[in-house]
Amino acid sequence: LENFGVQNEPILGYREGSQERGQLKEELARAASNTEEVPIVIGNEEVRDGEPRYQVMPHNHAKKIAKFYYASEKTIQKAIQVSVAAQERWDRTTLEERVSIWQKAAELMAGPYRQSLNAATMLGQSKSVIQAEIDAAAELIDFFRFNVFFLKENAKYQPISENAKITRNSLRFRGIDGFIAAISPFNFTAIGGNLAYTPALMGNGVVWKPSDTALLSNWRIFNIMREAGLPPGVVNFVPADGPTFGKAITASPYLAGINFTGSVPTFNWLWNAVGQNLSKYRNYPRLIGECGGKNYHFVHPSADVLSVVTGTIRSAFEYCGQKCSACSRMYVPKSLFEQIKNGLLSECNKLKVGDPGDFSVFTGAVIDDKAFARISGYIKGAESNPKNKILAGGKCDDSKGYFVEPTIIQTEDPLDKLMTEEIFGPVLTVYVYDDADVHKTLNMVGESTKFALTGAVFSQDKEFLKVALDVLKTTAGNFYINDKSTGSVVGQQPFGGGRMSGTNDKAGGPNYVMRWTSPQSIKETF
Ligand code: ALA
Repeated sequence: LENFGVQNEPILGYREGSQERGQLKEELARAASNTEEVPIVIGNEEVRDGEPRYQVMPHNHAKKIAKFYYASEKTIQKAIQVSVAAQERWDRTTLEERVSIWQKAAELMAGPYRQSLNAATMLGQSKSVIQAEIDAAAELIDFFRFNVFFLKENAKYQPISENAKITRNSLRFRGIDGFIAAISPFNFTAIGGNLAYTPALMGNGVVWKPSDTALLSNWRIFNIMREAGLPPGVVNFVPADGPTFGKAITASPYLAGINFTGSVPTFNWLWNAVGQNLSKYRNYPRLIGECGGKNYHFVHPSADVLSVVTGTIRSAFEYCGQKCSACSRMYVPKSLFEQIKNGLLSECNKLKVGDPGDFSVFTGAVIDDKAFARISGYIKGAESNPKNKILAGGKCDDSKGYFVEPTIIQTEDPLDKLMTEEIFGPVLTVYVYDDADVHKTLNMVGESTKFALTGAVFSQDKEFLKVALDVLKTTAGNFYINDKSTGSVVGQQPFGGGRMSGTNDKAGGPNYVMRWTSPQSIKETF
């Protein structure tokens, strides 16, 4: 990696007595004892529309950690105007000027603000310490550093001149006229940073709608970027009601793109609204979306049981199965089922669920009341279906926080909704197949859902792996062999999927930055 020119941020260990653990505890105490005021910010102006709203801790929902406001339709229009005006100036800055701000921000995130980003992510999004560290520290910093690196690498390419004495060709990277709307999710703090700030790095003005349930951590990123020197108005911080925001941005003639991570229905709504308004726009808006998933672990009879068990527990239950990449369906051969079941149950029963401020918890609560209702609904439905058997977990309790036990369900029906619909919670469904049906079952993996985000195959049989790679080639944008389906690393496994999982533009890969530029080819003749 040294020759690659950029490296991934090392993950800190938070051992008892370590400096980082002490600092994090202070930041957790500070954030927990406060309800931080988070305004809408447009240019230099703070705005507070309507009644205040609150971000609560998912694991202790009586506790408010941030107070915020939904931008009105008028305020969203103002944010659009300000970001379009800022883009005019911003797009004229040099690549070096922009890059230096991103580099400074990455240093601030890696150093002085690391623990306040982690604390906001642990308390606001209910992530355990390690899950916060790999997200709000490592992945966020990696996005900033790698996107700069990819931009510089891409900028090295300059077209050849036929006759350099009389002509010169160049390729200039410009932002896209107008504004980019960034709509980011709760489940990764880093995704908020990538969605809002990569278009900005490329010379665009941005109107950013962070998720209500990731507000505090996203607000921290916004402030770090201001401190790093990003001029006001380039990125505007605009929490809002989803439909109000969607209608306002898609009706604006200045819409130049949408950078989205969230649900399929919302992305479909946005795409349709863009289609309805096409004749209004100055440019065809760029639409980048990462939507749902129904990620699989497929186990071949030759698989190593320990890798299957460890990988599946981590993929299905880390961060309560709320990673877009989390495994939620599993195909297991009859010959290995007893061993795998025993392994999964023994590990699952050890998982500690609770307040992530306690560093020994494996996972916190699910994100909010809606998630709790949806996930517990799937579990209740499974209880009343004779084809489904709950093997582990199943208890749900929202009296203090939105807690759902890591749950393993065995189904006799490979097309049960537990095997085909996105649950986005700590629920793993296992289908046991006859060893003789291994190829038939493999074919079923892609046919049973519309999603294609991540997937993993566990097998020691190289010939089978060749077949699996071929059969499953359109079923997962991120495909793993003998490893869990989660944990992609920026620059190493660029992330994104096809089908209904999104536009597969691969966050953390070399092409992502290029989606946010409108390059100009210039031929000069002397
Ligand atoms: N990058 C995250 C993962 O792969 C989404 O788990």
